[in-house]
Amino acid sequence: MKIAIGCDHGGFEHKNAIAEHLMENGYTVEDFGIYEQTSVDYPDIAEKLSKSVAAGENELGILVCGTGIGMSIAANKVKGIRAAACSDHYSAKYTRLHNNANVLCLGGRVIGIGTAIELADIFVKTEFEGGRHQRRIDKITALENSK
Ligand code: RB5
Repeated sequence: MKIAIGCDHGGFEHKNAIAEHLMENGYTVEDFGIYEQTSVDYPDIAEKLSKSVAAGENELGILVCGTGIGMSIAANKVKGIRAAACSDHYSAKYTRLHNNANVLCLGGRVIGIGTAIELADIFVKTEFEGGRHQRRIDKITALENSK
């Protein structure tokens, strides 16, 4: 499975740790930066990563900023992206099961690196449940297309 990963300066160490963990576990990881600890604008990273997921170049994406919120707001502006800011295990699991989220957003200043790795792990391993949830996703897509 191909996973896209990216961060701003609020999530640099978390992003690197998650990428390393995923690669150690056999995932192909495309790193959208940042590649050194420098201040950047999170929408720039969110845009590049989200477009790659929406285009099918990567199956899922993981974005880390200070809170996870700015990244999720920006990612959700890209058509076809369902980004979820999560800081607990239950949400990371159910946003895949029920929302078919394709981008996980994490807060490097909210959760520790260990939790971030666990949430990323749950996110990439959990499959969308489909069924009644597909109808709800279809309604989200219709809403997106009605803009
Ligand atoms: C950057 O200081 C910070 O605003 C950003 O990482 C993120 O938390 C935004 O939502």
